[in-house]
Amino acid sequence: MNTFYGPVQVHFDLAFAVGRGRIVCLLGGNASGKSTTMKIILGLVKPASGSVRLAGEAITGMPTPQIVRRGVGSVPEARRLFGDMSVRENLLMGAFTRKDQRAIAEDLDRVLSQFPKLRERLLQRAGTLSGGEQQMVAMARALMGRPKLLCMDEPTMGLSPLWVDRVLDLIADINRDGVTVFMVEQNASLALEIAHHAYVLQTGRIVLDGPAADLRSDPRIRDAYLGGQEVA
Ligand SMILES: Nc1ncnc2c1ncn2[C@@H]1O[C@H](COP(=O)(O)OP(=O)(O)O)[C@@H](O)[C@H]1O
Ligand SMILES: [Mg+2]
Repeated sequence: MNTFYGPVQVHFDLAFAVGRGRIVCLLGGNASGKSTTMKIILGLVKPASGSVRLAGEAITGMPTPQIVRRGVGSVPEARRLFGDMSVRENLLMGAFTRKDQRAIAEDLDRVLSQFPKLRERLLQRAGTLSGGEQQMVAMARALMGRPKLLCMDEPTMGLSPLWVDRVLDLIADINRDGVTVFMVEQNASLALEIAHHAYVLQTGRIVLDGPAADLRSDPRIRDAYLGGQEVA
C-alpha cells in the first residue's frame, strides 16, 4: 500500500497481516506513519494504491460506519472522549451504528462488568477522569460496538506505569475473549509484552517483523525505536 498526504508520501509498499485472534503490533517512532495506517483500516484516509481486506473482503473505500458495522472497533490516539458528556453517554456512543436498544443495554451491562470501576463513574463527566480511567472508557466504548477487530492507537501513551500495566492486562483480556487486536505503539518494549507478532515501521516502510517473542530480544528493536536510524 502507498499513501500520500498531498505530495508527501507516508507509506511505501506497506504490507502486513493481522491473523484472527491475535494481538499484532505496528511499532515505530514519531511520524513513521502508524496513525495513518489505523486511519486507513477505519476508512478515514484512503491509500493511493493497495487495499485493506477484512476476512478476505476488500473494505477500502467504504464509509467508516460501514466498516464499523463489519466489526472494526477503534480506540483513537489520545482517546478522543466527549469530555462534557458522562461516561455513560460516551459508552453509548460506541453503539452508534446499532439500533437494537435491548442488546445495547445488555452490552452496556457486560462492558461495565468488564470494567467495574466505570460503573462507579457512570454519571461523571468523562473529561474529569484521570488519563488511565479515560483510556478504560475509550476501550469500553469500542467494545460497545462488538468489534471482531479492535484497533488501538498508542493505548499506553501518557499513562503512569501502574495504568500502563492495567491497560496492557485489559488488552490481553479482551483478546482472550476472542477479539483480534491491532495496536500501534511507540513503546516497543511494552507492546511486545502482550503482542503475538509485530511489525516495525520506519518512515513509512516496514523494516522488520516477526513473532513478538523473537523481537523482544532483538537489539534492532531498541535501535529502531530509540534512534530512528536505519535498521540494518
Ligand atoms: N492530515 C495530514 N495532512 C498532512 N500530513 C499529515 C497528516 N496526518 C499526518 N501527516 C504526516 O504524515 C506523517 C505520518 O503521520 P502519522 O501517521 O500520524 O505518524 P505516527 O502516528 O507514526 O506518528 C507525518 O509526517 C505527519 O506529519
Ligand atoms: Mg500517531
